[in-house]
Amino acid sequence: MGKRKLYLVTGGAGFIGSCFVLRALRQDGATIVNLDKLTYSGNPANLREVENNPDYHFAHGDIGDAAMIGKLLREHQPDAVINFAAESHVDRSIADPTPFVETNVTGTCVLLGTVLEWWRTLEPAKAQDFRFLHVSTDEVFGSLGPNDPAFTESTPYAPNSPYSASKASSDHFARAFYETYGLPVLITNCSNNYGPRQFPEKLIPLVILKALAGQEIPVYGKGENIRDWLHVEDHCDAIARVLEGGRIGQTYNIGGRSERSNLQVVETICELLDGIRPGPKAPRKQLINFVKDRPGHDFRYAINCAKIEKELDWTPKYDFRSGLAETVRWYLDNTDWLAEVQSGEYRNWLKSNYDER
Ligand code: NAD
Ligand code: TYD
Repeated sequence: MGKRKLYLVTGGAGFIGSCFVLRALRQDGATIVNLDKLTYSGNPANLREVENNPDYHFAHGDIGDAAMIGKLLREHQPDAVINFAAESHVDRSIADPTPFVETNVTGTCVLLGTVLEWWRTLEPAKAQDFRFLHVSTDEVFGSLGPNDPAFTESTPYAPNSPYSASKASSDHFARAFYETYGLPVLITNCSNNYGPRQFPEKLIPLVILKALAGQEIPVYGKGENIRDWLHVEDHCDAIARVLEGGRIGQTYNIGGRSERSNLQVVETICELLDGIRPGPKAPRKQLINFVKDRPGHDFRYAINCAKIEKELDWTPKYDFRSGLAETVRWYLDNTDWLAEVQSGEYRNWLKSNYDER
């Protein structure tokens, strides 16, 4: 058995980061230091089950705080930094791009710079084995037409939303830190994730909550836009593979091989809920309400994940329909979690994004 790893994870209290933290503690026997600012989408309840685990440490802070990060690095001497921290929601970036620049661009750049400074002090063997893995999105590649080939690692960047522009910028900084300074950087670009613990501003949990409450389900435009859905556990497995065997300076695309239109996704959730919880509002498809489209709405995302499949022997394991059924059940079974996240910030967001739509 190899040496136990210590990972400094940023944004580990969010949807994907918390899945990675739980998996790394459970499956890899890793020690985790989780640096998180606890913004509206960062939720300590996501990690309640490991709060008292001696291998788990939480630090409340910002990736843009160089002094704090420097201290954490010197104290814990991590084997890898995995950067999940971000402002992550397209609609919020349309309402106000500024926090996206602050965290995704400036924050990532400060984090990279602080890690570089510390990395340069390491003895050669430790420095060589160290990895900085930056988690990004397929949205940096822009929008596909219905018959275009899926995004590969060499598809040119063409971000269309303030969110994807800020993520593209952070990817460029991560790449530049490898090319310019030799920091051992890896970048992953993944498609839309789904699964437990996702903040219900994103399509799938929002629709589950609306359909359960018997409220109108807002579908932007005609619901024809297509996303490639990746289960969050599959995503975290892929990240673990890239950390272990990815070639430094490389990017890896991670996709779910599950392209669906938004309307297909919404109708499937309605059918699943009608089956599990029949009620007066069934069939819940009648709750679907087509609302004003998102400005600059990317039509289609699709990932070609041949590179990670070939180089690192990873492939998505989840079938979309059963993964979605499992996800719906998770939301039904975790009523305390749901009650907590539907507090003030969630309600404010519903009001500002949907009332005038
Ligand atoms: P999330 O919004 O659920 O979580 C983000 C986390 O980052 C939260 O815990 C938040 O408190 C923390 N955070 C925000 N600003 C911070 C700062 N300045 N310093 C420290 N912590 C901060 O997002 P997610 O869905 O878990 O996404 C994680 C990463 O994966 C992001 O980088 C996102 O761009 C990327 N991604 C997400 C998806 C998806 O479908 N959710 C798809 C592709 C890529
Ligand atoms: P979202 O979950 O916000 O992820 P992203 O914009 O990063 O792909 O949205 C997924 C798709 O669902 C996207 O095409 C926009 C659409 N959508 C709706 O139709 N209604 C909604 O209320 C939301 C939040 C999204």
